[in-house]
Amino acid sequence: VAEPKRIGILTGGGDCPGLNAAIRAVAKTAMIDQGWTVFGIEDGYAGFVEGRGRTLQYIDVSGILARGGTILGTSNRANPFAWRDPYSDGPPEDKSDLAVENFERWNLDALVCIGGDGSLTIANGLSEKGIPVVGVPKTIDNDLMETDLTFGFDSAVANAVDAIDKIHTTAQSHHRVMMVETMGRTVGWLALTAGLASGADVILVPEIEYDLEVVARKVLERSHRGQRFSIVVVAEGIGIHQSGRYNGGRTRVGGVSHEVACWMRETTGLETRVAILGHLQRGGIPTAFDRVLATRFGAEAVRLVAEGRFGRMASLRGSRVESVPIVDAIRRPKSVPLDSPLIHVARSVGTCFGDHVEGIQCASN
Ligand code: F6P
Repeated sequence: VAEPKRIGILTGGGDCPGLNAAIRAVAKTAMIDQGWTVFGIEDGYAGFVEGRGRTLQYIDVSGILARGGTILGTSNRANPFAWRDPYSDGPPEDKSDLAVENFERWNLDALVCIGGDGSLTIANGLSEKGIPVVGVPKTIDNDLMETDLTFGFDSAVANAVDAIDKIHTTAQSHHRVMMVETMGRTVGWLALTAGLASGADVILVPEIEYDLEVVARKVLERSHRGQRFSIVVVAEGIGIHQSGRYNGGRTRVGGVSHEVACWMRETTGLETRVAILGHLQRGGIPTAFDRVLATRFGAEAVRLVAEGRFGRMASLRGSRVESVPIVDAIRRPKSVPLDSPLIHVARSVGTCFGDHVEGIQCASN
C-alpha cells in the first residue's frame, strides 16, 4: 500500500468560473479516493513564495462547486522566477528557492497548479527545479495548446452572450451600431464563439486581418436595407496586433473598440456606442459544462500524482480527458485556425470578419 500523500494546490493568474469546482475535485478525490491530505496555498504564487497557506478540511471544499472565483485567492503578476517587490521599483529577483523551501517546510509530496499559460509556465519552471508538479488548465481565453478546451471559457462565453443579447435590444431600439469588446488577450476564441452564439453582424478577431472599410460597408448596407442597427463584436486582441504593442503576454490590453467606434462614427455617420464587457465575463457562477470539465480535470490531476506522472497537465481531447506534457501546452498561445469550422459557419450565415474574402460578398449579406 502506497504511503498517504500530502499535496499542495494553488490557483494562479486571472480568476475564472470553475476554479472552485476544480479545487473541490482535487481535494475531494485526494481525500476520499486516496486518503491524502490537501494543503491550500493562498493567492497563487504570491502565497507560495511568502509561505502562506492552510491545510484544507473536507468542510472547506464542500458547497463550493457552483461558486465563482477561487476560495484560495489568486495573484496575477506574482512570479517566483521574476519577483517584483510591490513597494520598490527595483529589478525582478529570482525567489524560486523560497518556493522550494516552503514546499519542503509544508512537507508536500506534490503540487497541483491550476492556471493558464503564465501560471503553467511557472509550474514548468518549478518542475525543472525538482518540484513534482501537475497542471490543470483554466482560462477564459481558451488559448492553451494541447487541450481542446480550458474550463472557464464556456462560462465566459455564456456571460458575453447574455450581455450581447441585452445590447441587441437597445441597439435595435436606437438604431445604433454597437461595438462590444470581449476579452481573450491575443486570441479570438471568446469573441468568435460569443459572436456566433449571439448573431453578431461583424466579428473582429486578431487572427483575421480586417479592413474597417469592409466593416463600414457592411453596417451601411444593413442600414440602407432597413436593418438600422448592427452588432460588432471586437476581440480586445485586435489592438495588440495592429499596434504591435504586445510584449509576450503581460501587457494589459483592452479599449481598442473605442478607436474602432470613433472611426466608424466619422466614416458612416451612424450613431455608434461602445460596451467593453471586461471582468463581467470572468465573474459569476460556472456553467454546467465548466463544472463538469473542472471536476474531470481535477480528478485527472490527482490520478497523475498517484501514478507519479509529473510535469503533465490534464487535457481534453474530443470527449476524453487525458494528459500532456506541460511544456507542450505553453509553447505559444493557441489561436483560432483560419480554417476553423466556426469561422466557416459564421461566414455561411452572413457574419462579416472585415476581410476581403474571395467569392463571399461580405457587405451584401
Ligand atoms: O487571461 C485572462 C484575461 O481575462 C484576459 O482575457 C484579459 O486580457 C486579462 O486576463 C485581464 O487581466 P486583468 O484582470 O489583470 O486586467
